[in-house]
Amino acid sequence: MDGVGFTVKPGETLGLVGESGSGKSTVARTMLGLIPPSSGRVFFQGQEVLTANGRMKKEFCGKMQIIFQHPESALNPRMKIYESLLEPMLIHRQNSSREEMKIKSRELLQQIGLSEEHLTRYPHELSGGQIQRVVLARVLSLSPQFLVADEPTSMLDASVQAQVLRILKRIQLENGIGLLFISHDIEVVSCMSDRIAVMYKGQIVESAPAEELCQNPLHPYSRLLVEAFSSLEKSSVKQVWVEDEKIDTASRCHYYSHCPHAGPACRQRPVLRETGAEHYTACWLL
Ligand SMILES: Nc1ncnc2c1ncn2[C@@H]1O[C@H](COP(=O)(O)OP(=O)(O)OP(=O)(O)O)[C@@H](O)[C@H]1O
Ligand SMILES: [Mg+2]
Repeated sequence: MDGVGFTVKPGETLGLVGESGSGKSTVARTMLGLIPPSSGRVFFQGQEVLTANGRMKKEFCGKMQIIFQHPESALNPRMKIYESLLEPMLIHRQNSSREEMKIKSRELLQQIGLSEEHLTRYPHELSGGQIQRVVLARVLSLSPQFLVADEPTSMLDASVQAQVLRILKRIQLENGIGLLFISHDIEVVSCMSDRIAVMYKGQIVESAPAEELCQNPLHPYSRLLVEAFSSLEKSSVKQVWVEDEKIDTASRCHYYSHCPHAGPACRQRPVLRETGAEHYTACWLL
């Protein structure tokens, strides 16, 4: 990652989009302290996350949650669903009795649209969409205030995907959760997000309100992404391979080799600058 910075407000969704390997999951895991960064800082409600320990660390672990791409790996295959649902509540026990926790897990199950009969099943007895809903319920049992959804539905088929995303959105809005929604699919991201940040090779190359980014993408890479899902003139943005020259590739724009507009200025790495209202782009040619 290279100079990645952003803010997510309560109840807001920031969509992080970019191709495979661009560093989306790395950003998410680093924010939650799952990967130590070589430098940089993360704040949750004004308090530093990565250096927290003891009680504060446990508090952050409850309030900042993540849902991963592969739902089946998030649940212990040997635990029945109700055991998986109770587990985080037992760890972060917030002065509630086991009976209260059982009631809460039933309520959560209702919120995500599963019934009591699912409680006594094992993960392999549920479908992918059902498992991802259980994962969502499990995360919600801790009343998180910040949630990362890292490609939460990319393993599901389209209709189930829409169902899970609707539940996620409803629950997020009802509880005012700040959401970092990660996907390589800009269409899904645009449906879910208030703002969108586009990542390319470890750098945020553009960030803007969702509608603005989809209607007026400025960075050549964002334009390529948006074009793939819209009926923009195909000829306006072309993938062009510019011959490598003998220059220092480490300091030039990451998109240099692919950019149809690359010029001498692009031999220096651009940083995000304001290119419109709440619209930031890392490109010299705008
Ligand atoms: N633990 C690790 N150690 C070293 N390199 C890693 C590690 N995890 C990921 N990477 C590398 O970091 C880069 C970014 O990976 P990351 O998983 O963040 O991408 P991504 O944008 O989430 O991709 P995808 O859309 O496929 O999930 C990749 O080049 C990857 O190989
Ligand atoms: Mg990823």
